[in-house]
Amino acid sequence: MGHPVLQEAAQLVEDPTAPEIRKLVQDMAETLVDAEGAGLAAPQVHVPLRLVMFLVPGHRADGGETVPLTVLINPQITPLSDEMEEDWEACLSVPGLTGLVPRWTSIRYTGIDLNGEPVEQVAGGFHARVVQHECDHLDGMLYPKRMTDLSMLMFSEERRHYAEAWDNAVDEEDTA
Ligand code: NI
Repeated sequence: MGHPVLQEAAQLVEDPTAPEIRKLVQDMAETLVDAEGAGLAAPQVHVPLRLVMFLVPGHRADGGETVPLTVLINPQITPLSDEMEEDWEACLSVPGLTGLVPRWTSIRYTGIDLNGEPVEQVAGGFHARVVQHECDHLDGMLYPKRMTDLSMLMFSEERRHYAEAWDNAVDEEDTA
């Protein structure tokens, strides 16, 4: 947080099959695995391109399906209802902090994959949340700017320590 690239709109990827895009995705996947995160956007590694990756780990599947590591290029999100839900988020670009963030509960997202093939998917729950968090990075938006109550922005360590004091604080947040 504070690097200018995290506050800018990223550029469209013109050729998803280009070798430099493969290399970028490889580097990002390594970063994501190292951080044990659930998602990462290219601006977080200081590359101003509209490319995100995410996954839904087993403990986040809510009885539904897990989602393997997915690369989404030039994404667009459409909410499918007015319903929003708050949950805790954390971000590799905002280390050590966590906050309660409202997100659409049901979305459709579109984009293209690494072969340039169209992607279209309906998502709910954590899947919808992580995609919204990552796509926000492409428009210079970090999760604290989505928060409606900044008293719910805190150190992850303190939230865990005082978990009983915070509604919905029983789950660990996932970093994205
Ligand atoms: Ni993030």
